[in-house]
Amino acid sequence: MARRSIEDLRSQRWYAASDMRGFAHRQRTQQMGLRRGEFMGKPVIGIVNTWSDLSPCHAHLRDRAEAVKRAVWAAGGYPVELPALSLGEVMVKPTTMLYRNFLAMETEELLRSHPIDGAVLMGGCDKTTPGLIMGALSMDIPAVFCPAGPMLNGKWKGKTLGAGTHTRHYWDKLRNGEISEAEWIDLESRMTRSNGTCNTMGTASTMTTIVDAMGLTLPGASSIPAADAAHTRMASECGERIVEMVWADRKPSDILTRASFLNGARVYMALGGSTNAAVHLIALARRAGVALTLDDLDAVAREVPVLANLFPSGNRLMEDFYYAGGLPALLMRLAEMLDAQALNVTGGRLAEVIAAAECYDDDTIRALSNPVTEGAALAVLKGNLAPTGAVIKPSAADPALARHRGRAVVFDSQADLAARIDDPALEVTAESVLVLRNAGPQGAPGMPEWGNLPIPKKLLAQGVRDMLRISDARMSGTHYGTCVLHVTPEAAVGGPLALVRDGDEIVLDVAARRLELDVPEAELERRRMEWTPPVPATDRGYTALFRQHVTQADQGCDFGILDHGRSQPEPEIY
Ligand code: FES
Repeated sequence: MARRSIEDLRSQRWYAASDMRGFAHRQRTQQMGLRRGEFMGKPVIGIVNTWSDLSPCHAHLRDRAEAVKRAVWAAGGYPVELPALSLGEVMVKPTTMLYRNFLAMETEELLRSHPIDGAVLMGGCDKTTPGLIMGALSMDIPAVFCPAGPMLNGKWKGKTLGAGTHTRHYWDKLRNGEISEAEWIDLESRMTRSNGTCNTMGTASTMTTIVDAMGLTLPGASSIPAADAAHTRMASECGERIVEMVWADRKPSDILTRASFLNGARVYMALGGSTNAAVHLIALARRAGVALTLDDLDAVAREVPVLANLFPSGNRLMEDFYYAGGLPALLMRLAEMLDAQALNVTGGRLAEVIAAAECYDDDTIRALSNPVTEGAALAVLKGNLAPTGAVIKPSAADPALARHRGRAVVFDSQADLAARIDDPALEVTAESVLVLRNAGPQGAPGMPEWGNLPIPKKLLAQGVRDMLRISDARMSGTHYGTCVLHVTPEAAVGGPLALVRDGDEIVLDVAARRLELDVPEAELERRRMEWTPPVPATDRGYTALFRQHVTQADQGCDFGILDHGRSQPEPEIY
């Protein structure tokens, strides 16, 4: 590929223009104390940073941005930092998923409206990875993703603890009187010991590792713990690399193909990754103009076993994964299933990453012949209860429930669930099927992670630890349980989930990929005629915009106005 010259760069439409606007762009940059020679004639690198004081997973990204800048300067570029929505997963109500598309729009428009030639995207906490990359794919200028990196292993009373996974585990113990209030408070400061994203194979590590496998990070970058000095060096290398990518005009569209998405999907399954990735990967593919469906993901899940021994499917954490060789070692294990010709941001191919990989711990990163679980990371279910699909994570579910028939106990909303789930009078047994509806993209809105419905307290006391649960919500990637999620179409738009009544029989058969409501069609039709859509709690602002444009989970929950085509170029004049 021919190397570009400075005249080819889009920033020059701002800085090299000989008109009054060009004067203002140069003048205003010098207003910030820069000398003309420090920015003129250089590629401008936008560092899109999701740091904020309310995003603990990204607490170090302000420092890392300095490392990126240092390397951009050294490589002959001009770095500019662009703050973006931080989306700290635990802090944002009702759910960061409501704002993933906001961040995607913000990223696209930040890059489009400013004199940016290439971008370093800094994120990692759950929705920030897909949000940043969706925007960058639409903009399609050279871009490298700088993942925040996982936090260190949690430790408490000699036990290793994973963020999210053990929160739920010990919450159930507290509700059941197995730990004290004082121990619960003590856990607050022991589970999350450093900056960085959740240390389990939750949505954050699932997504950063997938985009690493797809070639959008420096190879292996996603496995480096946030607190490791290697993480700072990786950020610095991103700065050096992006300047080279601008000169080479190496854009996401030059890297991403259907083969690279399928590589990402295979790694997703080998990780035992979060069900959330099924939504995000489809959204990314649509932005990239690549055909990828839930059925594709199901086909990949059937062939790729879980090899990464990480919570919640296994029993190790991301720090262990890094010491075991990280993503390159996992790619090596999967080599025969991957397209080794896929490109990455360095201009190199996956084959080179695999050739240089070594595995130092065969229990943490397993061979194909020795998977972590019998169950796959994902199964896509269809039937009269989910005509366009629903998902389940068999590797984190009770195998005894993979084929199950039970009577529905229906909750119309999260508030209804919270009010009644622990009511001693609730008619529920271990064989019941808990159903939560109106928790999807339109219904909640934003499809929160409510799908891991709590086990009723009276059943916990009887020793019940898992039940079949069904919803149009999502579930945290750090959680586990026999939870059927992402039911589409969702209840709020009139999907069959809206028609379920207490006592109806529901049939799940994971092996056959079936999810059925055992009620005669004539009765369902009668209920359909009686159904009225729920009234939204608010009809203003961004939430109204979200409701108007969001697609269903099987389509990626992107906005229909954004999930196709490329970004508009910036205006030539003014
Ligand atoms: Fe940020 Fe889990 S809360 S990655």
